[in-house]
Amino acid sequence: MNNYFGFMLLLCCGWHLSLAATTMNDVNDAEQTTATEMPNTTFSLPVETRRCISRPGNGQRKFVAVSMYSYHSNQIADLYIVTCDKAATVTVTIPYSSFSKTVYVSRNSSAGVTLSSSIMVSEAYVTNKAVLVTSDVEVSVFLYLHASGNGDAMALLPLEDLGTEYFIPCSSTSGSYKEFAVANGLQENVQLTITVSGQITYNGAYYYTGYNISVTLGRQQVIQFTSSSDLTGTRILSTAPVAVFSGHSQFYGSSGSYEPIFEQLHPVRDWGTFFAIFPLFNHTQDIVDIIAADPGTVVNVTDLGKTTQRTLQRGSHVQLTLKNEITVKSSKPIMISYVFQDSKSRNFVSAYDPFLTTVPPSLLGLNYYQFYTKNIYYSFLMIISQTSSVSGFYLDQKPLSSYSYWVKESGGFWAWEISLGKSDGRHEIYHKYFTFTIYVYGVESYMSYGYSMGQEPPHPASLQCLSRGAEYSLPYHLMAAANLKVLDIHLEDPQCQGDLEGSAVLLKIPFTQCGSTLQHDENGKSYYKNTIYGTIPNTNVHRIEVPVKCELDSNQTINFNLLPQIASSVSRGGHFNVSLKLYKSDSFTDPITEFPVEVDLHSILYVELVVESHDKDLQILAEHVRSSPLLNGTEKSYNIIQHGCLQDSTLQTYPTTDRRLQRFSFHVFKYKDVPGVYLSCDVVICHNRTSANRCAQGCLSSRQKRHIHNSDSARVAAGPILLSKLNRFS
Ligand SMILES: *[C@@H]1O[C@H](CO)[C@@H](O)[C@H](O)[C@H]1NC(C)=O
Ligand SMILES: *[C@@H]1O[C@H](CO)[C@@H](O)[C@H](O)[C@H]1NC(C)=O
Ligand SMILES: *[C@@H]1O[C@H](CO)[C@@H](O)[C@H](O)[C@H]1NC(C)=O
Ligand SMILES: *[C@@H]1O[C@H](CO)[C@@H](O)[C@H](O)[C@H]1NC(C)=O
Ligand SMILES: *[C@@H]1O[C@H](CO)[C@@H](O)[C@H](O)[C@H]1NC(C)=O
Ligand SMILES: *[C@@H]1O[C@H](CO)[C@@H](O)[C@H](O)[C@H]1NC(C)=O
Ligand SMILES: *[C@@H]1O[C@H](CO)[C@@H](O)[C@H](O)[C@H]1NC(C)=O
Ligand SMILES: *[C@@H]1O[C@H](CO)[C@@H](O)[C@H](O)[C@H]1NC(C)=O
Repeated sequence: MNNYFGFMLLLCCGWHLSLAATTMNDVNDAEQTTATEMPNTTFSLPVETRRCISRPGNGQRKFVAVSMYSYHSNQIADLYIVTCDKAATVTVTIPYSSFSKTVYVSRNSSAGVTLSSSIMVSEAYVTNKAVLVTSDVEVSVFLYLHASGNGDAMALLPLEDLGTEYFIPCSSTSGSYKEFAVANGLQENVQLTITVSGQITYNGAYYYTGYNISVTLGRQQVIQFTSSSDLTGTRILSTAPVAVFSGHSQFYGSSGSYEPIFEQLHPVRDWGTFFAIFPLFNHTQDIVDIIAADPGTVVNVTDLGKTTQRTLQRGSHVQLTLKNEITVKSSKPIMISYVFQDSKSRNFVSAYDPFLTTVPPSLLGLNYYQFYTKNIYYSFLMIISQTSSVSGFYLDQKPLSSYSYWVKESGGFWAWEISLGKSDGRHEIYHKYFTFTIYVYGVESYMSYGYSMGQEPPHPASLQCLSRGAEYSLPYHLMAAANLKVLDIHLEDPQCQGDLEGSAVLLKIPFTQCGSTLQHDENGKSYYKNTIYGTIPNTNVHRIEVPVKCELDSNQTINFNLLPQIASSVSRGGHFNVSLKLYKSDSFTDPITEFPVEVDLHSILYVELVVESHDKDLQILAEHVRSSPLLNGTEKSYNIIQHGCLQDSTLQTYPTTDRRLQRFSFHVFKYKDVPGVYLSCDVVICHNRTSANRCAQGCLSSRQKRHIHNSDSARVAAGPILLSKLNRFS
């Protein structure tokens, strides 16, 4: 497993910037690809209108569903299975009613399976009413729970997207009945610890806020809790991944109309920190509810240009009425739920009912979805994306511009709302260059449904070495964080570009084309090499650089946890470069040039900050130096220098006569459960002829006035720095 090599180098704007690289995970099975399959992707290719997405793995998909309790005792559960480019054989089983049905769904189509009201969960104890859907190929599955038109729909998550920690969101208004259900797919025995917020009666006992309920679920078992109290913030921890559903058996909307509302929840692992939220249907009374998992989560809500800041604790929440589009940014991951609730009269329907959905984080998503609508509703699609142009979207293989649509912009995101009419069956939406998230919803007289898609866990960057070429997949969000577009990603031969597939930019690297070269090392091994670049358009400045290397005749996949995000600064006319260098000793003569760098836990790291310029009158000051598991993230960050003041007790400084240099050292430390860290520094550059300059001030308490005029600033970073004992790959 040593025939791998890959790292990422981020350069920006002529500054010497960060080196950021990779750690590697497990090796998956590789598939065989031949060189003839390598497409020559350039601008001149005809626009493709369809791209089925295959997730990693053998293609098989499993889902678990629950028919949650509704005040309508005759609630039916309709499962709709939607296929893409492969026909599917799908089996639906429910142990409770010994139900088992196998359906064949041809490619590019859909099929429904109706489940009777007997499987609706009305018991307050564990039952084997969990519905398991097993498909032999990639499919999407939607669940509509309904009785007399009342109900809601959800897009089911495949088992691999389930998690072990969830929080119950809020959607309550008075007089509603809250409920949530936890279901196990195929795990043997899953222990649940439910930390109650509110009040739950279970097994004849009362559980109040802070009490724990322990439940064990076997295969295809489900437990449901209902309460008339507010259960918001109830936390579910499990020993293996489970599916969690939340909702109200009877939800009263603001206008008094009521309906059961349901949604499958996303585990804490897939929560996000940036959301552009647009009211569906131009509503002005919908409810969004923001919930945090970590103490001290700072949430900024920007509404019509005004930002309000709040701090949330674990399981605490803030509820907002969505009068217009807003953006939400948080310091740590949050979950946002959305209750569509008023029922304004429309020209096609006099009044309609509420539904519940989740708000997917706006920076993730895929570039292709298949979804399902039912013709008893007037259905709509809302797309949230970072593109301001309608061209490039294809809905059911026709340009989006051929539909009637409305568009709104907020915080750099655009919402496209399209009327689908009373349509039935499968739909697909695709964009060649942008990822996006979607909402699908519909209304009819006193009815409605809605669900969202796109809250997918991002896959790590991976390199797959095949016999005639390699495939590298670069997560879209890393590209977007570097402020680059799909067409900016290419190989040594700039004609060989990347192609967006789901949430990754896929680069096919034929060994005989695209600038690939064959090289031999001193041990007699031969490697194919190429480099992936992310280039700022019309420049030769690379913000992403990933050398790839495959040993001749080897088939393997390497997954990297690439954590870098661009650390950019603005150059003022390019008169100087700022760099951060790490050294192995206090002689500052042995720079560390390769990342990730492995260091011992008890060693010392030597840091030099330098402003490179011919102007000897410049000075540099390290204003903030911190270390964190993410290059940019503030999460778990540890301050080494703050406001120019030394924070870390092991910090030592090394005075120099040249004011353009600043040197210091500190003991390496370790974060629990984090293999590597980045070091990032905010530096100030001053001119020493300016009388009151920031560099001359040095350490300042946060209340002292800072002289920030006549100075420049920059952020430089290096990493990851790995602790060697933890990172021996076997
Ligand atoms: C998929 O089905 C739709 C409607 O049934 C049809 O218009 C479209 O051409 C089909 N696409 C493919 C690629 O088979
Ligand atoms: C409830 O369970 C959580 C998670 O296992 C634990 O941290 C907490 O101490 C428990 N609380 C009580 C009151 O037992
Ligand atoms: C939303 O508002 C826009 C302009 O105000 C209007 O053209 C559009 O029809 C509205 N959309 C819906 C779904 O009502
Ligand atoms: C929230 O806003 C404050 C003040 O504008 C800012 O300092 C902080 O970085 C913001 N936090 C997030 C998570 O966006
Ligand atoms: C990372 O930090 C840089 C510089 O402060 C900023 O421009 C960029 O938007 C940040 N990226 C992310 C993903 O937060
Ligand atoms: C690579 O995979 C192909 C097909 O799976 C196989 O025929 C070949 O022997 C493999 N090569 C190596 C070096 O494992
Ligand atoms: C900054 O770095 C660039 C690229 O290495 C170099 O060409 C340039 O001369 C440097 N500028 C200064 C002022 O050192
Ligand atoms: C500025 O720095 C240069 C080089 O270190 C030095 O020669 C000069 O005297 C300094 N000027 C002032 C005003 O401190």
